[in-house]
Amino acid sequence: MEDRFSFLAEWLDPPAALLRRYQLFYYPKDSSVEMFDVKNQRVFLRRTRYEQLQPENLFLGNRVTVFSRQLHLVDYGDQYTANKLGSRKERTLALIKPDVVTQVGDVLERISSSNLLVTKAKMTTLSWTQAADFYVEHQSKPFFSNLVQFLSSGPVVALELMGDEAVSTWRRLLGPTDSSAARKEAPQSVRGQLGTDGVKNVGHGSDSLAAAARELEFFFPSAGGHGPSNTAVFSDCTCCIIKPHAVSEGLTGKILNSISAAGFQISALQMFSVDRANAEEFYEVYKGVVPEYPTMVTELSSGPCMVLEIHGTDAAQSFREFCGPADPEISRHLRPTSLRALYGRDAAKNAVHCTDLPEDGLLEVQYFFRILDG
Ligand code: CMP
Repeated sequence: MEDRFSFLAEWLDPPAALLRRYQLFYYPKDSSVEMFDVKNQRVFLRRTRYEQLQPENLFLGNRVTVFSRQLHLVDYGDQYTANKLGSRKERTLALIKPDVVTQVGDVLERISSSNLLVTKAKMTTLSWTQAADFYVEHQSKPFFSNLVQFLSSGPVVALELMGDEAVSTWRRLLGPTDSSAARKEAPQSVRGQLGTDGVKNVGHGSDSLAAAARELEFFFPSAGGHGPSNTAVFSDCTCCIIKPHAVSEGLTGKILNSISAAGFQISALQMFSVDRANAEEFYEVYKGVVPEYPTMVTELSSGPCMVLEIHGTDAAQSFREFCGPADPEISRHLRPTSLRALYGRDAAKNAVHCTDLPEDGLLEVQYFFRILDG
């Protein structure tokens, strides 16, 4: 019998402001999809090939785009799908500590090569009290105050990782807690390669599913709450978006490394799932001006993207030059080492968006880090 995976999916229909519910079926054999309207009890989309939908993106809580509709996968549609796709999938918190926050690209590259997906990301600076709350289980340990002092000494990046046995996979990737032990016992591990000692040890990983649930809730609260604030400074800044195609191709780490290696300061970083209405609003100035406007909107709303605030004097102009011309083909000829030449595919899937006009830098940064993260 042919495999068929089934999900309950919700779509926020912007003009009607209605939450519509569908059963989404995915047939891996020919990469086709089918949709059934739950309320009206009728076929909404007949079985159609749709190769843009990657099977690895079919997991609970994720948002996938099917023919320009961003669907939120809220439940499994049947027991078969739950058993087949859900059994070993876990979520965990990976916290990148202040000692290596400027090397977050290196860590993300390792995460992506170990088949873990980054499903949420946020750079934040914890106060002493927040760090003490986070490490409350170590309250009575002699190293508690050092640990809290270090964790609140600068920005950290919190990540939600998803994948098969994510809790143990990430801890294995990190290596032994003490970095000098890691250098001896697991020299290829993240701590073995990048760590300094027992406190400056690159990252933290939840040690159980229960701890993961609590720690994820701390950084990414599920209902109502906001969690620790982002680190945007809203001055001398420009906006960079690592586009959904580049995120899903696992290029985030490489792109962040290139940006840091070129000397740009990443002062805020956060993952967003932009819906179509917001993508249209964000790109409003390009409407009727740039022929790619509709495909740019589709690309930006096609999956999660990583948004950065780049900080520095004249950041907008120098960062724009570093990105290269909007069309990667042209970039490859004129500026072969630019981000778009290296990682772009076409004019809409061109790896990164960067602010075009210096006076728009702050507005674009505010759009994400103040309005969408409001
Ligand atoms: P982490 O994985 O973040 O979880 C708790 C942290 O406590 C751990 O990393 C270490 O940084 C720190 N830690 C654990 N044991 C010791 C120790 N004996 N001395 C100093 N720090 C420690």
